[in-house]
Amino acid sequence: MASHFDPAIPLAGHVAVVTGASSGIGLSVAEALAGAGAAVVVNYHSDNASADTLVDRIRADGGRAIAVGANVSDEAEVARLFDAAADAFGRIDILVANSGVQKDASIADMTLDDWNTVIGVNLTGQFLCAREAVRRFRTQPADRRPARSAGSIVTMSSVHEVIPWAGHINYAASKGGSRMFTRSLAQEVAADRIRVNAIAPGAIRTPINHDAWDGDEALEKLLRLIPYGRIGEPDDVARAAVWLASDAADYVTGTTLFVDGGMTLYPEFRDNG
Ligand code: BGC
Repeated sequence: MASHFDPAIPLAGHVAVVTGASSGIGLSVAEALAGAGAAVVVNYHSDNASADTLVDRIRADGGRAIAVGANVSDEAEVARLFDAAADAFGRIDILVANSGVQKDASIADMTLDDWNTVIGVNLTGQFLCAREAVRRFRTQPADRRPARSAGSIVTMSSVHEVIPWAGHINYAASKGGSRMFTRSLAQEVAADRIRVNAIAPGAIRTPINHDAWDGDEALEKLLRLIPYGRIGEPDDVARAAVWLASDAADYVTGTTLFVDGGMTLYPEFRDNG
C-alpha cells in the first residue's frame, strides 16, 4: 500500500501491537488505534477475558484485532507475540509499549522481587518489545509501507520520568530509565526512518491508581496536584497515541508528550510560591 494520509482514518493499513492492552490506558489505546484504521494485536498478561471482550468489540465495529497473551519481560514470549502479529496481519508498523505495573513500598520494605518485577515489566519489557519491533521494521519491504516512516514506537512513560516519587522508587526508576531509553533509541534508529516517542501520562483514572481517585477525599487531594482541575481519562492518552503513531507526527521523534493536565508544572507555585 502506498502511503496516503487520510486524517479521517490516519492509521489505515497499519498493524499495531499494544502491550498491556487488557485494561486501563492500554485498552483505550488499542481501541483508539483500531478506530483510526489499524489492525491491532491486543497483548495481555493474565486477563484473557478482558482482552477477548475488547477484540470482540473492535470486530463488531468493523475493525481487525486479535488477542495474544505474553509476559513482556520474557524474551521468548515477546518473540512469540510478534510472530503472532506477523502471522495474523502480515507485518507490523506500530508498537505501543504500554505494559506497566506498580509495586509500591518504602525502600526499607521494598523486596528485591518488587524491584525486579517493576523494572522487568516497565523497562526491560520496553527494551524487548522495541528490539523486536525494530528488527521487523528494518526487514519489511519499503514499498509496502502504509506510513512515511518505516515504523513507529510509542513507549508509555509517566510524569514520574521527571517527578521523583517517594515510596515508589522502583516505578520512578523504571520511568526515568524509560525516558533515556526512548531518547537514545530514537537517536539510534532515526536513520532507518523509525520514530520513537514517549507519552507521559499524569493521573489517569485506571485500576493502577484506584486508591488515588476513588472517594471524594482522595480525589480532592489528587486534584491539588493537577492545575487543569480534573483527573485524566484513558482516552486523553489514547488520542495522543494515535497522533504520535500516525503520519500526522512524521517529523516527531525522540520526544515525550506529557498528557498530565499540568501535573509537571510545579503546581505548588501557582500562588506565587
Ligand atoms: C502512576 C499513577 C499516578 C500518576 C501520577 C502514574 O504513572 O501509575 O499511579 O497516579 O502517575 O502520580
